[in-house]
Formats: sequence, C-alpha cells, structure tokens
Amino acid sequence: MLGAAWYPEQWPEARWEADLALMEAAHINFVRVSEFAWSTMEPKEGDYQLDWLEHAVRLAEKHHIAVVLGTPSAAPPAWLTQRYPETMRTKEDGRKDEHGNRQQFDWSNAKYRELAGKMAAKMAERFGHDKNVIGWQIDNEYANESYGESTRTQFQDWLKAKYKTLDSLNAKWTTAYWSETYQDWSQIPIAERYGNPGLLLNWKQFVSDTWRSYQKVQLDAIRAHAEPRQIITTNMMGWFDAYDHYTVSQDLDFASWDDYVGSGQLDFVRNGATHDLTRGLLRKNFWVMETQPGFVNWHANNNALDKGEVRAMAWHAIGHGSEAVEYWQWRSALNGQEQYHGVLVGADGTPVPLYYEVKQLGAEFEKAAPVLAGTTVKSEVAVLQDYNSRWAINWQRHNRAFDPVTALVSYYGPLRALARSVDVVADTAPLSGYKLVVAPALNLLTPTAVKNLEAYVRGGGHLVLGQRSGMKDEDNSLYPQRQPGPLADMLGARVEQWYALETAIPVEGDWGAGTSTMWAEQIGVKSSETKVLARYGKSNGWLDGQPAAVTRKVGKGSITYIGAGLDEATMRNAAKWMLDESGLKPVMPEVPADVEVSVREGDGKRVVILENFGEKKTITLPQAMTDVLSGTSTSSVTLDQYGVAVLRY
Ligand code: GAL
Repeated sequence: MLGAAWYPEQWPEARWEADLALMEAAHINFVRVSEFAWSTMEPKEGDYQLDWLEHAVRLAEKHHIAVVLGTPSAAPPAWLTQRYPETMRTKEDGRKDEHGNRQQFDWSNAKYRELAGKMAAKMAERFGHDKNVIGWQIDNEYANESYGESTRTQFQDWLKAKYKTLDSLNAKWTTAYWSETYQDWSQIPIAERYGNPGLLLNWKQFVSDTWRSYQKVQLDAIRAHAEPRQIITTNMMGWFDAYDHYTVSQDLDFASWDDYVGSGQLDFVRNGATHDLTRGLLRKNFWVMETQPGFVNWHANNNALDKGEVRAMAWHAIGHGSEAVEYWQWRSALNGQEQYHGVLVGADGTPVPLYYEVKQLGAEFEKAAPVLAGTTVKSEVAVLQDYNSRWAINWQRHNRAFDPVTALVSYYGPLRALARSVDVVADTAPLSGYKLVVAPALNLLTPTAVKNLEAYVRGGGHLVLGQRSGMKDEDNSLYPQRQPGPLADMLGARVEQWYALETAIPVEGDWGAGTSTMWAEQIGVKSSETKVLARYGKSNGWLDGQPAAVTRKVGKGSITYIGAGLDEATMRNAAKWMLDESGLKPVMPEVPADVEVSVREGDGKRVVILENFGEKKTITLPQAMTDVLSGTSTSSVTLDQYGVAVLRY
C-alpha cells in the first residue's frame, strides 16, 4: 500500500476533493488522518464533532483511498490541559510542561487516560464498522515520560508488587553500597541516567509497562466497538530506546515505524536492520507508517534525498517485509511548527517535483502487490536485540564510543550481505527455526534468555556471542561468574578481563589478520574442547597473545564467543565462517556490495527485490526470473544508481 499523512482539519472542506484526486492519480491508496486533531474532534469537553471526519472518510472512499484513523492523544487540546492541569507531564527538571507543542501529557495520569480513552471510544463507535476504515494508529510516537510525585508513587507500588519485600529489593540492588538501603518504599526515587543500576533498569521497565497500560486503555476502547478486520498499531521509532518495544507491541495487531534518514543519504545496511527490528517485534510483516518525502525539517542540514533515492528507499522497505509506505506529509500546513518539512504537494496545492517519483512508485506498487501478497521474509539467521542490555551498556559504556546498536549492525551487515535475510528478534523469541543465532553485546541475561539460548545450542543450534555478553543478571547486577555468566560452563571459557581501548589493536587467527577497536576482552580457555579462533597481537601487554575468540562444539550445535570488536574485513570473514559452521550457503554471492538483495517468499512464490545504491551496473541472475515491473523474463538486470528490480521466480 502507498499512503500519505493527510490533515483535512487544516484546510477548508472545499479543498479536500482536489487533494484526494491528486492522491488517486499518484496511486496513493490510503491516508492516515486525525492523529493530531483533538481540538477539532472535541472543541469543548464532551462536545464530540466527528461529522467532518466522516465527510473526509467518505470523500476518500470516492477516490478509492482507504483510511487509517489516528487517535489524537499525542496532542491534547488547550481546554483539557487548562481544566485538568494534573494531566500535564512533569519534566525531568521538575517543571511542568506547557500547551503549545505536543506530547505534553502525563502517560501515567488516570484522568488523561480516561479522556483519551473516551475519545478513542467515540471514534470507534462512529467508525468501527466503516468499510473504508482499515485500521487504527494509537497516539503518535510514544516518547515522553513524566517525573512527578504521583508517577513516583506508582513506580514505588510497581516495585512493591515485583519485589514483595524491601529486603529482597535491597539485596538485589546491593543498596548497602553508598548507604542506599531503603527502609520504606516511599524513599525510592526515580532515576533516569545516573543512579543504582538496579533502580535505573526498573524505572525503564516501569516506563515500558506504563506505556503498555496507557495504550491498553485506547486499544480496549477501540476493540469494544471496531470490527477485528480493522487492525491496530502505533508508530514506533526504530532504535529509539525510551521503552521496551517488545513489551509495548505485544498487544498490537501489527508493528509500524517512522523511517526518517534525517541528514545525508540512506544507509541501507543500518536502515535495513531497523526494518528487521520492527518486523521482529511481532515477528511478521510491518508497515512504514511515516517516511520522508525527500527531506525533513528537524536536522542540522535537511538535505533532500537524491532523485530516485526515495523510490529505492520505498522498495528497500518492501524487501524487508513492509506492507505499506506512507509519506509524511501530504501538503505543507500554512502555519505550525513544520513549515519546511518535505511534502508531496506544496502550500499552494500543486505537486512538488518528488510527487512524480512517488506516482511512478505508486504505479509499480499496484503492479507488484498481487505478486507480493502472502509473502514475507524467511530467515535462517537471527540477530538478538535486547533493550535491557542496551540500557545497561548505555548507562555505563566504559568507552564512550561503544554503541550497542552499532555493535549489532557490525554483525548484521556482513551476515545480511551473505544470507540476504536476517531476523532481529528478542532473546526470548523462539530460536529453533534458525541455523545461526548471533547475540552482539547481550550484556544482560535473564534466566528465561539463558534457558532459551542453552536449549537452542543443545538442540543443534549455532550461537555466537559478541563482546560484553553475559555480564549482568535480570536486576542489572554483575553475575558472580565471569562473562558470559551462566553460559561460561557451556563455552568452556570465560572473559578474564575487558579493556576499553584507545587505539585499534591487532587480532589474528582463522579470520585473517585484522584489528579490534574500542574494546577487547581477554578470554581464558577452561576446557580442552574449546578451540581458540583468534588471538590478540602486541598491544597493552595484558592482551598480547591472548585468545580473542573461541568456539566449542556442543553435540551438533556450537557456542562461540568473540571478545574482539572486529574491523569490517575481518568481520566479513567471521560472518562467512559463521555461515559455514551452521551449514548455510551465501545467497547470490556475486552481487556487488552496494546492491541490496532481499527475498520475500510465501504462497508458492519467491520474489527478489534489488536496489542499487552505487554506480550503474549489470547483475547476472542465478536463473531466469520474471521482471514483475516490466512483465518480461530475464537472466540479467541493468540498474542505474537507485535503480530497482522486482523479480519473481
Ligand atoms: C514524526 C512525527 C510526525 C512529523 C514528522 C516530521 O516524528 O510523527 O508527526 O512530525 O516526524 O519528520
């Protein structure tokens, strides 16, 4: 599906038809509306005005454009915050937020939830059976927490329910440290950046649970009235880590995210990982609920994507399992905070140059949709992603340059280039279907994850752990065993010491001679069955000649630990080795590195999508395929820069 974020409430009704006609001509087949329209839908408390929205939905229908309704809770109206000041969030510095932007509400506030829930219910009563309404988006980009007294009390109650006794909490957080010991639940503060690691982790988990329950109020309100065919999501933000996305997405029908490049050009490896992260939330196809029509307005330099790049980026999303691409936004509002943002139609109401590229894309989507229907990405390789681990590392990076997402992408990139499809999933996801599971920087290992990983290896799976893995338990305490903690026995090795590095140091072994940057772990081998794969060269003395990566066979499976932060070339060799060890073969290995290859399959169909992010080139296909966009059969494709091929075989 191809969509646009449309704001009819910002324009006279007489203009709507012209907009919808332009959309229809561009093959846009859905709009998302109303997610910031609270002051129009309820201008006074209890005065629900939804007729205008009904007109918009009907007019869209006339132009064969379906509607996704957004609940407007990200933008409370002025009357609401004036009458119920307690619904305003308290910022981290203790000051109250104010009306005039958005996201100024307190997500933990009961009154706010009630008012937002009522609005969602009113909308669902009116549109829950509407044939032209296909789905719902709850709120918009959950982001801001609140730090006021009532939230703090809720947090304390949440901790009480979890730990039962203060003795247990004190023991698990080692509060004897710095006299932090709590004698009463009411003494426990909120800490966001700096504080006891157990406190920090629990606050984030509370934040996540509170977003989930905030969302649940609106989900229940909609589900009480809407037909189940109307599917419900919220638009998330990729690697954004203010809350645990697995916690929040579990109640949704599908996952979606807002894909913005910001500045520069598309980094298709990292962006592809982000698509896969979103697909991994519910382990099924997802939507790109927003993306930039050329450029944004919120970066230091809001350059436009090159001609052709927007189209390539859309196909890149489809290749990773997206079902929809929606442009934010359709037309520039005359006023409001985002006047410079990219659009498809200018403030004057006529198309901008990019409109025609999107129109071409729309025609292509229309052709390819029947072929893509019923297909998804099937992966034999999984990369594990864990919010607890990312938070734990980010609070104590030890080397400021160590970014857990960059660490993840350093594995993901070369693995994806070989396997052409990789799942990014939680450490609690079912793993037995994967031949290879890689866990970069899985710092915090809960008992459930330990069981899951052990069972995977014992069942014949190949597990690779990256730097900093297995250091902490579920309370963000250090394990009383060395890394990888509870998995050290199975590995037959342990991390003797870790070192933050100032400069790259040499690493040599089965994957060639390379370097480790930022971080290096000195591994001690404890079992004769554990094999050293690489060693450090001369560096700080401690690491000289010491094991940098080890592996051990466990039945038909294996466990590997890589203590070095490998440079790109060495990582590529390591990735080849990982595939080899797990019995996987590279897919279309002859395709150059600047061409992305994705495979979707299902319903007896296999579809390959190629996008060329480099110079013009010809790619020989491993077999004859049908070019879905031209309808011809071909055994090679020539792609300009940003060229796309959609092939079926
Ligand atoms: C998104 C947001 C949209 C719009 C857009 C601009 O984060 O959901 O409402 O503000 O950014 O890039």
